[in-house]
Amino acid sequence: MKIIICNSTLEMAEKVQSLILNIIKDNKQPVLGLATGSTPLLTYELLVKDYEDNKTSWKNVITFNLDEYYGLEKNHEQSYRYYMNKNLFKHINIKLENTNIPYGVGDSDLIAKRYEDLIVALGPIDLQLLGLGTNGHIGFNEPGTNFDSLTHVVQLKNQTRNDNARFFNNDPDKVPTEAITMGIKTILNCKKIVLLASGNAKAEAVYNLINSKPSTDWPCTALQKHKDITIILDQEAASLLKSN
Ligand code: GLP
Repeated sequence: MKIIICNSTLEMAEKVQSLILNIIKDNKQPVLGLATGSTPLLTYELLVKDYEDNKTSWKNVITFNLDEYYGLEKNHEQSYRYYMNKNLFKHINIKLENTNIPYGVGDSDLIAKRYEDLIVALGPIDLQLLGLGTNGHIGFNEPGTNFDSLTHVVQLKNQTRNDNARFFNNDPDKVPTEAITMGIKTILNCKKIVLLASGNAKAEAVYNLINSKPSTDWPCTALQKHKDITIILDQEAASLLKSN
């Protein structure tokens, strides 16, 4: 486990940008795993800027997003499909048909199964970007999720719905109750993992990710088993590490 503590969110984003660009340049058909939430936004901004300035081609890149809310149409402003199109895909030369995000409407178990099958068919994922929930979730794998889980349907915890209410007019009741997410095993199957966390609210989860015995109480502890994981933090997210 490689841990990098940065002095700013820009420094964090620059590190991730460079790791992603390396994967794109080093592979004929790169497969990237992408994340949503506020943490990776600056990384996407830098990747768009790189495309504008340096024309790094995304023509052969395949992407798989970690998760999607269940019950939101693709054009819903809080769907992760909308987020990815708006913040990355429409600004670069990726083929939209090569961008994969679970579809949040329909038979959710079937959607999850087909998504996992597609990852197996087109993967392995060369680099999976991850954020971190305040309760230690990765993707939408909430506490209690089996470490052997593949892409599946989850019930979101109240803590997660409260955390994400800021995107839904600050009303937790508007946050969907279910989501479709890559499972923990799906994530562990990726060749390289890069986890980003910033801010004090993530400090406890970061502490547990690094120091606690693997336990489903903190889904992020499953990552300790992975052979190639880089954790990129700001000072606040790393604050409990220093005092211990
Ligand atoms: C959501 C996403 C996660 C993300 C987490 C952290 O719950 N499903 O994939 O890592 O939020 O989000 P943020 O970066 O906004 O703190």
